[in-house]
Amino acid sequence: MSLIERIRERAKKNIKRIALPEGDEPRTVAAAARVKAEGLAEPVLIGSPEAVFAAAREIGADVGGIEIVDPASSPKAGEYAAALFEMRKAKGVTEAEAARLVRDSMYYGIMMVSRGDADGLVSGAAHTTGDMLRPALQIIRTKPGMKVVSSSFLMECPNHSLGENGLLVYADCVVMPCPTAEELAHIAVGAADTARTLCGIEEPRVALLSFSTKGSARHALVEKVQQAVRIAHELAPDLLLDGEMQLDAALVPEVGASKAPGSPVAGRANVLIFPDLQSGNIGYKITQRIGGAQCFAVLQGLAKPCNDLSRGCSVEDIVNTIAMTAVQAGE
Ligand SMILES: CC(C)(COP(=O)(O)OP(=O)(O)OC[C@H]1O[C@@H](n2cnc3c(N)ncnc32)[C@H](O)[C@@H]1OP(=O)(O)O)[C@@H](O)C(=O)NCCC(=O)NCCS
Repeated sequence: MSLIERIRERAKKNIKRIALPEGDEPRTVAAAARVKAEGLAEPVLIGSPEAVFAAAREIGADVGGIEIVDPASSPKAGEYAAALFEMRKAKGVTEAEAARLVRDSMYYGIMMVSRGDADGLVSGAAHTTGDMLRPALQIIRTKPGMKVVSSSFLMECPNHSLGENGLLVYADCVVMPCPTAEELAHIAVGAADTARTLCGIEEPRVALLSFSTKGSARHALVEKVQQAVRIAHELAPDLLLDGEMQLDAALVPEVGASKAPGSPVAGRANVLIFPDLQSGNIGYKITQRIGGAQCFAVLQGLAKPCNDLSRGCSVEDIVNTIAMTAVQAGE
């Protein structure tokens, strides 16, 4: 069974309510209909019913039995506005502004998750990462003990000798452009958590990547990764984590043994932490486009799961992301 098939099976066993703020976006409507029909989650389409039904007609999707919530006429809007005002008044949000914001589908969906009226949220077929992530960071915030929200890419590689039978977790490839050493340490711990909870990897082995292995090069960039390793050890003393190391030392047993002898991770890493967003984003695309890997992206570190799509996503991508969000919500 592939990773995504395993995730779908887990989602079916613990049905979660997933808010879809782009409720009138045709691919999202088609995905909601499939998710409902296949019993993967309970989708909630956020938008005006007229627009949702128009999109459903256009693509021939059956939205019967799917809940549609309209922020413009929702009886919950007053409660959400009051809660949003309380949360954000110290940041200058006024009561009038909070009332206006909750009429927006994205804010409404984030408030649903924040108040426990939905278990998770998926968007991004029509919005940018920042459009969803900024309100999620402001309202849902981070998990206890977790300082940053970041992302993991679950990479299913054709070469099964790599990582965990071909499965590797990459972080961060979406959120933090230039993490500090402390932020990098939190990304590493968050990615290990994602490897365990979402991928079922019982023993995450985390490598913090660099162009240097164990002091082979000297540079401020290398020192930042070395410092991140020290902080990550303090944050998660039981986690198998090591660095700084080059990619080949992390993945290839002979190279790992020669460049980082005695390392519990070198040569057999299944979680790879990139030093910044440029290397992470480039790295996952190389693995996908040149290496032929399948990839699935999730956000980690939020107190409740919200996930982002690429605007070029397919219906299948949205269905998969809803299933992954449901599994994260069940953990
Ligand atoms: C994530 C992102 C949207 C945050 O944007 P931002 O301009 O820093 O947002 P803000 O400064 O308004 O921060 C919003 C709140 O979230 C917090 N925050 C920002 N980034 C955070 C993070 N990664 N983890 C936790 N909290 C974070 C801020 O402290 C702030 O809290 P506050 O308002 O209570 O003080 C921004 O970092 C971003 O756009 N990242 C790159 C996304 C991207 O383009 N990726 C490529 C896609 S492939």
